[in-house]
Amino acid sequence: MLGVRGFRWRGVARLALSPQLRNAAGRMETRKITKSDFDHIVDVIDRWWGGPMANFAHPMFFHELGDNALIVEEERRLIGFLLGFVVFGSPKTGYVHLVGIHPDFRRKGVGRLLYETFTERCRDLGCERMKAITTAGNEGSIKFHHALGWQSSEVEDYAGTNRRRVVFAKEFRSRPLG
Ligand SMILES: CC(C)(COP(=O)(O)OP(=O)(O)OC[C@H]1O[C@@H](n2cnc3c(N)ncnc32)[C@H](O)[C@@H]1OP(=O)(O)O)[C@@H](O)C(=O)NCCC(=O)NCCS
Repeated sequence: MLGVRGFRWRGVARLALSPQLRNAAGRMETRKITKSDFDHIVDVIDRWWGGPMANFAHPMFFHELGDNALIVEEERRLIGFLLGFVVFGSPKTGYVHLVGIHPDFRRKGVGRLLYETFTERCRDLGCERMKAITTAGNEGSIKFHHALGWQSSEVEDYAGTNRRRVVFAKEFRSRPLG
């Protein structure tokens, strides 16, 4: 199934969405990122996070990894984005580097829509699991990942000495054949 402007919507279509989320998703469009979307993200990211974050939106996430970057629009307004990539190791892993939702559009299913769409793409590419990290104390992010069925563990020194991180993972159960 193709969504508007050609991005795959299979993940969304396959989910058992609540009526509320189905209505919200009906008004939203998810598609691959463009350069002007990327520029817009760099412009707004500090405001959306309430602190300096622009360095996390490294240009390689558009120029080299743009096939794995998604945005969500409502009435042509960019309200959320996801920057990710696929790790071709063992197990092959879909990695979410950064997800951000416009502060006025949180708790409306935008993050879930982005995660489920990207997860479905990763499964289609043969990934066996998903991974992401966040800083310890980012309770919104931790609760969001748990709500989506991801596991988490805190890892000391993950990002360097005294740089603890919460590491999220979601393993895929193998799909039935046929
Ligand atoms: C974390 C974030 C991506 C969630 O996006 P969102 O679009 O608001 O999330 P959704 O509406 O899809 O939420 C799905 C479920 O996750 C849980 N959830 C999401 N945000 C939550 C929060 N702040 N507190 C508690 N639970 C939360 C809820 O169970 C929610 O379902 P419900 O609203 O029906 O109860 C968003 O708050 C955000 O952009 N935060 C700032 C950036 C950030 O921290 N990014 C992640 C780390 S890089």
